[in-house]
Amino acid sequence: MSTVGDCTASSECLAHNATEDFQLMSTRFSLGIDLGTTNSAIALTDLQTDQTEVLEVTQILGPNQIGEKPTLPSALYIPHRDEFPENSFPLPWESGVGDATITGHFAREHGVLIPDRLITSAKSWLSNPHIDPRHRSLPWRSDIQDEKLSPFECSRRYLAHLKNGFLYAGRVQGRNWDLSEAQIVLTVPASFDEVARSLTAEAAEAAGLGKVTLLEEPQAAFYAWIAQAGREWRSLVSPGDIILVCDVGGGTADFSLIAVTDNDGTLELERISVGEHILLGGDNMDLALAYTLQAKLEAEGRSIDSWQFLALVHAASKAKIALFDDDALTEAPIAVPSRGSSLFVGTVSTKLDRASLEEVVLGGFFAKTTISDLPQEARRVAADPVISKQLARFLARSRANVRANPSLATLVEGPSGKEFLMPTAVLFNGGVFKSAPVRKAGARAARFVEPRTGGSRAARD
Ligand SMILES: Nc1ncnc2c1ncn2[C@@H]1O[C@H](COP(=O)(O)OP(=O)(O)OP(=O)(O)O)[C@@H](O)[C@H]1O
Ligand SMILES: [Mg+2]
Repeated sequence: MSTVGDCTASSECLAHNATEDFQLMSTRFSLGIDLGTTNSAIALTDLQTDQTEVLEVTQILGPNQIGEKPTLPSALYIPHRDEFPENSFPLPWESGVGDATITGHFAREHGVLIPDRLITSAKSWLSNPHIDPRHRSLPWRSDIQDEKLSPFECSRRYLAHLKNGFLYAGRVQGRNWDLSEAQIVLTVPASFDEVARSLTAEAAEAAGLGKVTLLEEPQAAFYAWIAQAGREWRSLVSPGDIILVCDVGGGTADFSLIAVTDNDGTLELERISVGEHILLGGDNMDLALAYTLQAKLEAEGRSIDSWQFLALVHAASKAKIALFDDDALTEAPIAVPSRGSSLFVGTVSTKLDRASLEEVVLGGFFAKTTISDLPQEARRVAADPVISKQLARFLARSRANVRANPSLATLVEGPSGKEFLMPTAVLFNGGVFKSAPVRKAGARAARFVEPRTGGSRAARD
């Protein structure tokens, strides 16, 4: 099996493919929006020039400080009314006193110090069947009352920010974009159900984006890979290939299988299987790391309260990224503030070391399992966290789906008798796969080896 590549679900490709797939007479430009659990992005294709670019997003970087970043962190901070002087966070497109909440970079950076006023992962709550997405439930587990926001409202605010930032950037450059001339494409996990899809579309409409076209994230990732590979992509795959798109972002694990077929000498791509909705991603890794760190602190006779635990989750996330981004680091510092204390007074300090990180993320979420190790339970939320097992179930179900569908069965020859569909190539997408060791573990999970003898696990790699 080969790795065809890895890419970040590219809003650039969304915008570009929108022009190919959905071009309308009145359409002058197209916008591609990736509304992520952790990060959101926007890209523009100007149909007059056929140029596509990922747009930097103007956002608050600090009190009275705005700037541009390539993505908008999907984070909202709700300041206490006495925390900052009035109008400390003016946005250029808001006249007078703006929204009381802060969106994006500063929200996330500052919010980790006051975690009960920080909202993250609203998208996971939007698609959680156990809560009402219009109920003001966020920040989750926070004691604040009146200022809480619903997952739907958070999504609306991120989308409104992206829209306003785009229009503002245009005005700065002397372009007054008219959204009625736009085709707008918005990504959703392939596994989002109808309710989550329509809530997302409704949030976009409420944000002033009008009617949007929804595009599934693995498909967007695949378009991104094709666009990045240019004409080369046809030489990188061949008829008979089955490509697994494995997308693990902040909140979701999305699997799709795409078959490469030959139609009179022309390569064609056909999606043959989409996974179920699995709320499993980098957020779960952060939580598991936080529990590990909490246990370490307790073993040392130190304890943290529930408020500090929220901060520990965010700190664990930062440390995880720092260690995965830099092989030379053996550990990363963790500092958890105490509620109500001035900064660094009463801060609980510890470290996340590489061995613990690898044990939790690689050994836990990407554990070496066999194709017959399936997830523990079939619940939609709080899924079995072992991604390798989720993948095994997806490949087994894909085989069953293909067998039950004669037109798909003709596309996939596959090794006969196997109870799962074996991908021949894998395309990784999502922030979790930015890390090379995680990609390696993911590739291993996608090419399972059957147990050699009953019950014992095959050694691999
Ligand atoms: N270098 C890294 N190594 C491992 N994980 C990382 C790295 N960089 C970011 N992440 C994790 O990737 C996740 C964010 O990925 P991404 O931006 O693709 O998510 P998203 O698109 O917002 O989420 P989703 O697609 O689930 O809605 C976070 O959990 C983050 O901690
Ligand atoms: Mg994503």
